[in-house]
Amino acid sequence: HMACYFRRSIASKLSRALGRSEDAFISAVCAIPVSKKQQSPDFRLSVNTLLRNGILPTNGDLQAQTEALASQLKQDSVVEEIFAGRGVIHFRVSRNLLVQKVLEQLCQERHKFGVKSELFDGLKKGTTVVEFSSPNIAKKFHAGHLRSTIIGNFIANLKESLGNNVIRVNYLGDWGMQFGLLGAGFQLFGCQEKLKKNPLQHLFDVYVQVNKEAENNEVIGQAAREFFRRLEQQEHQALLLWKQFREITVEEYQQVYKRLGVHFDIYSGESFHQQQAQEVVQQLQRRGLLKTTEKGTGVVDLSSAGDMSSYSTVLRSDGTSLYITRDLAAALDRKERYNFDEMIYVTDKSQGIHFQQLFQILLAMGHSWAERCQHVPFGLVQGMKTRLGEVVFLEDVLDEARARMLRNMSQSKTTKEMVYPEDTAEKVGISALIVQDFKGPLGSDYKFDWDRILQAQGDTGVFLQYTHARLCSLIHRYGDGEEGAFDPSLLLDQRSISILQHLLRYDEVLYQSVQDLQPKHLVNFLMTLSHLAASAHRELPVKGSPQAVAQARLRLFSGVCTVLANGMKILGITPVEKM
Ligand code: ARG
Repeated sequence: HMACYFRRSIASKLSRALGRSEDAFISAVCAIPVSKKQQSPDFRLSVNTLLRNGILPTNGDLQAQTEALASQLKQDSVVEEIFAGRGVIHFRVSRNLLVQKVLEQLCQERHKFGVKSELFDGLKKGTTVVEFSSPNIAKKFHAGHLRSTIIGNFIANLKESLGNNVIRVNYLGDWGMQFGLLGAGFQLFGCQEKLKKNPLQHLFDVYVQVNKEAENNEVIGQAAREFFRRLEQQEHQALLLWKQFREITVEEYQQVYKRLGVHFDIYSGESFHQQQAQEVVQQLQRRGLLKTTEKGTGVVDLSSAGDMSSYSTVLRSDGTSLYITRDLAAALDRKERYNFDEMIYVTDKSQGIHFQQLFQILLAMGHSWAERCQHVPFGLVQGMKTRLGEVVFLEDVLDEARARMLRNMSQSKTTKEMVYPEDTAEKVGISALIVQDFKGPLGSDYKFDWDRILQAQGDTGVFLQYTHARLCSLIHRYGDGEEGAFDPSLLLDQRSISILQHLLRYDEVLYQSVQDLQPKHLVNFLMTLSHLAASAHRELPVKGSPQAVAQARLRLFSGVCTVLANGMKILGITPVEKM
């Protein structure tokens, strides 16, 4: 286990001055974002945090306390300067040690850099279920499913990299009245041949056609209800057709997930839980939580649970289950199967109330683990179009990203000769989609714009990939500088120091991300790292420098390259080595 050498060292000073264990101070000592100033401090301690945590008794004069504490702390060869600011204490560490220790840690920990930080000691490492993507079979794809897919993947990657056992669940919308409609529609307009050839398109066409037809033909509605009834009663022929729809769709989706680099441990779905849903209704009844309305529907009264709409319907008057009933059953089933410590659901924000109700009902049923279930909501994406018009399938978006990227690459002078340009264009195109999506708070809506997201300059996924690829080719050509001794005093220039100061923040950024599950912290961190690296690459040549200088710089660039790649992988981006 390797900790941040400097944070430890500062914590130990505090511990000596204030008489608590070092650990009490670890999270109060934070790395400071880089500045252009030569002698800027590296860490800060908020005295307020100490007061809030009861580590320091308050005496009413924050500034006096700050200054008194600062003067109590003695500088040494590790922490060379300590001074009070407004309510904070600043620490500047030895430049030589900064270079040496960060590069040493990078070299030893490699892809574990940052994730083994002492900041994570207090976090429970357990089993995390992340449910994401969850498209509806045979219905039109919407941008929300892409968002859910990439956000869920990010959360799963992050949790996994911090040592949790992650179970990735795809909960397909594979049950409900729409299958009545689709089944009935297929019997009228379907064609097995077309289904085999282009399944998603055909099912979608049938679905559109039957919906249109149903508008002015009551018989269709009847046929749909009839078909769904047959499904609910497990009738063989109906089930067979439904199964075929499901299998075909899952196969198609898997192709797309593969392109995105996303995998699932489990493909579950609403259909798995329709029987159990009936048992849930009985349990609710036994616990006295179920009320039957005049219309004969079964509801749970949630009025005591705060201001959410106070009734949740869990049973239709014809005895069939609803979306929420199946979700209750699914949650109980997962708890039993995986005994998870936490469960995270990723969907658009319109389902916020649904999940609140779900968790409230579980709590009312006596399942206190529902406290550790969480909904991660995201906003809408507007205007996701391709050249062919409105996006119908997820695949169209990826094709469009690849095609546009390929065109940009063929026009760019810096593009390398590549054996598989399509492959690179695909990966970089997907990075662009992901970065655009992750830049802001997940809850916000945003407008989709191909030209903006694919810019090579500016804060895009293309820029991240480009920076990474350039570092890779540098290292490829000259080596990673790790052989032999190296002299830290050769990296004391402002550009190198800024990079190292920035790297000090990596574990904190991951910590922030795992607290609020927002990818923007990591995206911003990697963007800044790329900008710093790009300017260092320009100003700190390897070629033509004395051997020892070249080696030291290569070491630095190789470290940056590693952190860039690590961070990108957590975001769900596959770093490319050439572009
Ligand atoms: N299939 C749903 C939709 O596309 C999302 C499912 C979300 N997960 C859940 N457990 N309800 O809207």
